[in-house]
Amino acid sequence: MIFYFSGTGNSYATARFLSEKLGETLIDIAQAMQKNEVAYFLQGNEKLGFVFPVYAWAPPKIVTDFVKKLVLHWEKQPYTFGVCTCGGSAGNAIEVLAAALSKKGLVLASGYSVIMPNNYFVSPEANSQEKQAETLHKAQVTWERILEAVQQQKQGFFRVKKGKAAGLLTAAISPAFQRFATITKPFYVTQDCIGCGLCERVCTAYCIQLKDGIPTWTKDKCNMCLACVNRCPKGAIQYGKKTKDKGQYVNPCWK
Ligand SMILES: Cc1cc2nc3c(=O)[nH]c(=O)nc-3n(C[C@H](O)[C@H](O)[C@H](O)COP(=O)(O)O)c2cc1C
Ligand code: SF4
Ligand code: SF4
Repeated sequence: MIFYFSGTGNSYATARFLSEKLGETLIDIAQAMQKNEVAYFLQGNEKLGFVFPVYAWAPPKIVTDFVKKLVLHWEKQPYTFGVCTCGGSAGNAIEVLAAALSKKGLVLASGYSVIMPNNYFVSPEANSQEKQAETLHKAQVTWERILEAVQQQKQGFFRVKKGKAAGLLTAAISPAFQRFATITKPFYVTQDCIGCGLCERVCTAYCIQLKDGIPTWTKDKCNMCLACVNRCPKGAIQYGKKTKDKGQYVNPCWK
């Protein structure tokens, strides 16, 4: 069973690859949280995987919240692995996942990072089409390596690009990000909006509602997954000045 969270498709594409190759069921954490579906039964030799993007050098809060709520039953302790996708450095994101899982009596046997195109307010030059294609090609090579290690059920095996000062960044920036950078107030919609409703459908926090054909944000804070900004067909969703003249990014699996 593989649980995933994804805003722009990188983590979904990674989780889908692993689920197809391993024959494991794929479960969307955002949907499960919305429906409060948190109890699962693992049969026989089912493996347990978590795939998610790195936000401010940590897992998205919804992922650790989900792990806290998770009620797992199993025939035998599952082989458990974690994969984070990130734009460059994961910090201690996998350690944070391991700590959350250990409170549930689960041992994270292996953990991995996959460098994928950055979806966070990045200039189009920094994430050109050529660069994206090159990064996605390299990611597929990393997926194969992860698959091999998980199939071999490697223990205590961690292949994570943490970057510099990982401990400090995860400990200091992640709580500040959660507190100040997940506020929905700066979101606004430009005149280019055609009222198609896609942003409402893709929001992982279920907090966008079309009122009189115009998207409005119904919660003070969200997951900051940037699905709305990146997936709007008209590029009509902006976040203060941060998104101005920045490109959009969506993994090809969701285009
Ligand atoms: C709010 C936010 C914070 C991010 N923080 C980091 C980070 O600390 N390190 C990093 O390398 N990438 C960071 N990224 C980039 C994403 O982790 C990366 O693009 C990821 O693959 C997106 O996954 P998704 O397409 O499944 O949503 C961040 C992205 C967002 C939206
Ligand atoms: S996805 Fe874009 S165009 Fe469609 S309703 Fe939302 S803001 Fe408007
Ligand atoms: S409002 Fe936008 S950034 Fe926030 S959770 Fe919804 S889709 Fe993601």
